[in-house]
Amino acid sequence: MSNVNLAWEAHANVTALPEAEIAARTAAAKAALGSQLVILGHHYQRDPVIRFADKTGDSYGLSVHASRSKDARWVVFCGVHFMAETADILTGGEVTVLLPDLKAGCSMADMADIDQVEACWDEYTEVCDATLVPITYMNSTAAIKAFTGDHGGLVCTSSNAERAMRWAFERGSKVLFLPDEHLGRNTGFFKLGIPRPDMILWDPHLPLGGNTPDAVRRARILLWKGHCSVHGNFQPEHVDAARHRDPNVKILVHPECTFEVVEKADLVGSTDFIIRSIDAAPAGSSWAVGTEHNLVARLAAAHPEQAIHTLSPFACQCATMYRIDPIDLMRSLEGIPAGELRFPIRVAPQVAAAARVALERMLALPQG
Ligand code: 13P
Ligand code: SF4
Repeated sequence: MSNVNLAWEAHANVTALPEAEIAARTAAAKAALGSQLVILGHHYQRDPVIRFADKTGDSYGLSVHASRSKDARWVVFCGVHFMAETADILTGGEVTVLLPDLKAGCSMADMADIDQVEACWDEYTEVCDATLVPITYMNSTAAIKAFTGDHGGLVCTSSNAERAMRWAFERGSKVLFLPDEHLGRNTGFFKLGIPRPDMILWDPHLPLGGNTPDAVRRARILLWKGHCSVHGNFQPEHVDAARHRDPNVKILVHPECTFEVVEKADLVGSTDFIIRSIDAAPAGSSWAVGTEHNLVARLAAAHPEQAIHTLSPFACQCATMYRIDPIDLMRSLEGIPAGELRFPIRVAPQVAAAARVALERMLALPQG
């Protein structure tokens, strides 16, 4: 029998396992590794995965948990690739970070690559000599974080973008914000009061980002043309429809949503903020939530005393977060004692050192 057939049979045997057996094997593999293992889980993970997480969080919280996991031997990251890279950078030498499925990427992070960022920087410096401070959203590659560290900038997440932007404007007159134009625009306008004409879009596929030299010289924020395909599904009309259905509804959205949605929302914040807002609300509260489906469904199940619905008429699921399935997690844990690592994420030391500078600047920001 060929290797392909053998591999397929092994796969079929595992995928045919009943859920309870997968859960029992995962629990046993986790228990056997004891304190050598830390499992980190992002809020968008599905229930049968996140129940095994030692720590859950938004991207910021998980980076803090990773930085405190230096005594572990293994960190298994139930999230997406840029989060596992960040964990590898922040845990350092002795810890091996595993991502149970290498296809768990992020379509937004894929909208900026390091060559494009370097080209943008060169083009900018040809037309403008004002100090430009780069801010990269956590949802970016380690190479871009390293570039940011090397060029006097920092990383931000949805929970500290305002503080990061204020930090940057204390050090330069202009900011390059990448790769999420919406988080950049929403933060610039709603938090710092920067008028929209002072923020220009930088399309990496066009010369000078699609701008004139004068426009670049006048702008205060260059917004990289990138977005989240999940949060891009929420529309301002969905807000109107939710308010029409229930005039008492509170609209609670993630800042990756468009300007037009955020403008109409009552509350805006990271996944952790969304959870804290609903946890703190009284019985009878009504919510339309603009973020990923698994989190909204979990909140609705945890709070039957409140009415919690997704803002969109469709379930907006992050397909890449969903790549981490219970079988992947089980195999990743069972592979460790056997020396079959599924799948190590290792950032090259030089890149990691520069990226760590940008991450540590973020971690040093005052807590909000
Ligand atoms: P949070 O940092 O708010 O969890 O967001 C991460 C993310 O990828 C949202 O799409
Ligand atoms: Fe990336 Fe959007 Fe998925 Fe977050 S929800 S991981 S930004 S694709």
